[in-house]
Amino acid sequence: MDVSQLWDAEPGYFNTASYGLPPRAAFDALQSALADWRVGHTSWEGWNAHAAGAREIFARLVAVPAADVAIGATVSEQIGLVAAALPAGSRVVVPEGEYTSMLFPWLVHRDRGITVDSVPLDRLAEAIDAETTLVAFSLVGSASGEVAPHDDIVSAARDHGAFVAVDGTQACGWLPIDASRFDAFAVHAYKWLMSPRGTSFLVVKPELRELMRPVAAGWYAGEDPFASFYGLPLRLAGDARRFDTSPAWFSWVGTKVALEVVEQIGVAAIHDHDVALADRLREGLGLPPGRSPIVSADVPRAEEKLAAAGVRASVRSGRIRLACHIYTTARDVDAALDALGAP
Ligand SMILES: Cc1ncc(COP(=O)(O)O)c(C=O)c1O
Repeated sequence: MDVSQLWDAEPGYFNTASYGLPPRAAFDALQSALADWRVGHTSWEGWNAHAAGAREIFARLVAVPAADVAIGATVSEQIGLVAAALPAGSRVVVPEGEYTSMLFPWLVHRDRGITVDSVPLDRLAEAIDAETTLVAFSLVGSASGEVAPHDDIVSAARDHGAFVAVDGTQACGWLPIDASRFDAFAVHAYKWLMSPRGTSFLVVKPELRELMRPVAAGWYAGEDPFASFYGLPLRLAGDARRFDTSPAWFSWVGTKVALEVVEQIGVAAIHDHDVALADRLREGLGLPPGRSPIVSADVPRAEEKLAAAGVRASVRSGRIRLACHIYTTARDVDAALDALGAP
């Protein structure tokens, strides 16, 4: 079966690094929930339950127990919980040009003596030393599409007793990931997991969890959310759920169904499809093969040429960024190459 038939993508979409397109089943589920909302056809518990279901699927996708996964709405708020747990005077190291949702949460603690040093990505592992409290990086860079040398970084962090915090937003959905190797792993689902915006996951290991305060806890962070609406005492979940914030129902309806589709197709198959098409693009542009579905190229007037041909892509750091995902076809790639005037 041609899985691209599970989507309704218009030809020429290369912007998954900005936002992914929903599988038809996810879009339909969302429309049906919205129709029910419009007329008050159902109660809310069914919408709410999609968040728990999405957590289970996400946990399987990244090979961790669901008990280690908290849900939220953005990467920055979830990483903010981790940053608030760092002791005063901590040293954080990050790659140069790190996405700010993985950067500002550490920087806002400057008044507590938390310092943030940035170094080129290929020198991140060697920058970790005995003074390092935590290393933070995106598994796949949002501008370049580069896959971080995560084995080296994790092993340097383990050698020096530093925590490892990873942003998988540009990776999760196409790159097979074992998130149990990291202390904290945050993913916003609206790109490669092809979900509505406003659904994110934070995997956080028990040892790090013990240092963290659930500063945004409300009813949904309760051990039994449905017995946590009113009154004392504090009765938070024993596992990572205590860091949950209450779900934005409709976004989670779409997310759960999108994750089901990702799981059915399989991340390994998506990886092979995406990277093969990106390599077709790279070859057409005279670039060597790569490991990422995101192609970053220096082509004069690329944005203008693509727009004239109806191809949607973005410019990042002065280079054209073309992202291939499961609904991208060889025909899309050839149209983009034609538009760019590739030989
Ligand atoms: C690497 C990365 N992390 C996170 C985000 C989104 O951050 P947030 O969830 O804080 O909006 C993006 C969006 O472009 C991104 O590229």
